[in-house]
Amino acid sequence: MGGVIYQIYPRSFADSNGDGIGDLPGIRAQLDHLAWLGVDVIWSSPTFPSPNVDWGYDVADYYGVHPDFGTLDDLDALIAEAKSKHIEVWLDLVPNHSSDRHRWFAEHPEYYVWAKGRPNDWRSVFTGKTAWRLDKRFDRRYLHQFAPEQPDLDWWADAVRDEFDRILRFWFDRRVSGFRIDVAHGLIKDKLLRDGVRYMRERPEVHEIYARWQQITLEYHPKPTLMGETYVSLDKLPAYYRYLDLAQNFDFCRADFELDELRPIVEQTMRDVPADREPIWFGSNHDHSRMATRWGKGDERRHRAALFLVLTLPGYAILYQGDEIALEDGKVPRRRITDLARPPRDPERTPLPWTRDGEEWRDPWLPLTNTSRNVADQKDDPSSTLHYTRLLIEQRKQFADESYETLPSAKGVWAYRRGDRTCVVNMTDTSATHEGRTLQPWQGLIL
Ligand code: GLC
Ligand code: CA
Repeated sequence: MGGVIYQIYPRSFADSNGDGIGDLPGIRAQLDHLAWLGVDVIWSSPTFPSPNVDWGYDVADYYGVHPDFGTLDDLDALIAEAKSKHIEVWLDLVPNHSSDRHRWFAEHPEYYVWAKGRPNDWRSVFTGKTAWRLDKRFDRRYLHQFAPEQPDLDWWADAVRDEFDRILRFWFDRRVSGFRIDVAHGLIKDKLLRDGVRYMRERPEVHEIYARWQQITLEYHPKPTLMGETYVSLDKLPAYYRYLDLAQNFDFCRADFELDELRPIVEQTMRDVPADREPIWFGSNHDHSRMATRWGKGDERRHRAALFLVLTLPGYAILYQGDEIALEDGKVPRRRITDLARPPRDPERTPLPWTRDGEEWRDPWLPLTNTSRNVADQKDDPSSTLHYTRLLIEQRKQFADESYETLPSAKGVWAYRRGDRTCVVNMTDTSATHEGRTLQPWQGLIL
């Protein structure tokens, strides 16, 4: 049960050919390292052909590989080799919208959401302005929840559903073991296009799509996993667990790193997640400031406390590349900003430093600024965060199947039972005690 998912942001993970862009052979070359770390799954952000208006989240062909990353053969080879090391490969499916350069947008305009005039008050997440863009070809407007170059697909259209059935089977046939589903709460829009964001996202009919996809996964052994990017409040999460195997918990990720904020979220999650499903925890991804910065505030002890929680709570944990070395957000000068969002997400997307001199990144697409926390140095140092992470991944196996129960503890200390083990973490910067044991500031212990 459960497992550790390692999220790869492929442009910034490992570059095999010196063009400054991470790629699939680069990931493949690091599989031994990831196996050493002990991860069960790698989930890569999109590797599909894309004009990169939103760095891969604007897909131009759901069946291909962007030449920056390699070829379909490279992806096949990665999947096969990962499997031989007992690591699953999950891809990132973007079904809410395609790129406006996808041939569907020219050949099948009926796959998209259209209206005459500006039918409602819906706004684009990226521009903050109306989400309806005039298309002169038809003198009609199409919906774009994100950038204008990312037209929303119309999930009321049977043909769209059929297309994605084919896409899922294509990748499952290639032995992809799961998908992270982008904007999983947003696919279906109100048929009447009523005013209000509640009619643009989180529509109840979205679950029918996942019921159908769940049927498709059942055609395969082992059954592939469906993980939703479910950007909804905690009370809405159980509904998504009906047909998704995993629904990402953003209330946890976005909370402040405070016991009084996090513990109630964990307790509610543990109450609400259906008995046959598992919770999932993470503190970083490619859209949020890295947890070493946001939660750790530069203090590696705080970051380790965060790793302790993510890796010792029940269910699945996601590590975003760099979490294992306490990598902080990169400093990206204004002239190097590549992201369309405001504030830009470049700081959490900078290259992963493998060595102190950073020679593995020649002129990378985003600057490599600080290499003081890097993989090579930490691999050589048994007291490093990298070794700490590896040890936690090893230790969590001892109680992977056990439930969670909050235990009484001193103020600022969080203790919970996992079977016959007790996990305890000091969430303060002064030392504390638990059952006669001294805990240093931010120290976590498995007793
Ligand atoms: C998701 C992705 C984000 C992207 C957006 C639009 O939130 O994680 O990176 O910009 O969807 O596809
Ligand atoms: Ca490359």
